[in-house]
Amino acid sequence: MDFIIVDNYEEMSKSAAAIFVENVNKKPDTVLGLATGSTPERFYELLINEYKENNVSFENVTSFNLDEYVGISPKNSQSYHYYMNEKLFNHINLPSEQAHLPEGKTDHLQEACEEYEQKINTAGGIDLQLLGIGLNGHIGFNEPGTSFDQETHVVDLAPSTREANARFFDSIDEVPTKAITMGIKTIMQSKQIVLLISGEKKADCLYQLVNDPVSEDFPASILNQHPNVTIIADKAAASKINK
Ligand code: PGA
Repeated sequence: MDFIIVDNYEEMSKSAAAIFVENVNKKPDTVLGLATGSTPERFYELLINEYKENNVSFENVTSFNLDEYVGISPKNSQSYHYYMNEKLFNHINLPSEQAHLPEGKTDHLQEACEEYEQKINTAGGIDLQLLGIGLNGHIGFNEPGTSFDQETHVVDLAPSTREANARFFDSIDEVPTKAITMGIKTIMQSKQIVLLISGEKKADCLYQLVNDPVSEDFPASILNQHPNVTIIADKAAASKINK
C-alpha cells in the first residue's frame, strides 16, 4: 500500500481529485468506482471544478457506485442515487446511462445484485475505485464478518453503521436495515484503489488497517493484499501510524 499523508481534509480531497483527473485524462473511457458518505464530499466539488475549468471530461467515463440502501427510492433525498446526482452527476458531463448504482428499491434484490455484477464485468471491470472506510473497517457496506469471496450482495447493516449514518436521517428508526453493496471480491478486482481517510475519529481505524492481520473481522484489512492501493490520509487520521 502506498501512503500519501497530507495536512488536512482539503489537501486529502485535492490529492484524490488530482489522481482521478489524471486517470480520466490518460484513459477517457475509464471505469470509475465511486463512494458516498461525508469523506468524498469535497473531492466531488473539486472534480466539478476541474470539469468546469475544462481540465477533464467525463463524457466517456462509466461509473459504478459501491452501494445503495434497500427499500429507498432513488428520488428519496436519503438515497445514494440522490446523493450522487446532487453532489456530482448533475454538475458534470457524465451521461446518466453510464452512471450506475445498485438498485435498492426492487422486489428482486437477488437479480439486482447479479445484474450489477454483470454490468461491471461487461464494462471490463473497475479501473479506479474510490473508497471511504467505516469506523468498524467496512468498505462499501461490507460489514465485519462478510466473506472476502462475496460479489455484489444484500447486507444487514451493523447497528454501529446505522447509528453512524443516523445523522443523515430524522431519526435512527428511519435508517434502512439493509443495503446492496459491491462485495469484497468485486472491490478487490478493481485495478487501482484510492482510499480516503480523514479525522482523528478514524485514527484507530487506520492503525488497525496498517497493523492488524488480514481478517474478515476488519473488512478493509484485505486491501493489504491488493497490488495497487493508495491511502490518502490527513494528519489527524494518520496520527497513530508511522508513515
Ligand atoms: P464517512 O463514511 O465518509 O461518512 O465517514 C465512510 C463509510 O462508512 O464507508
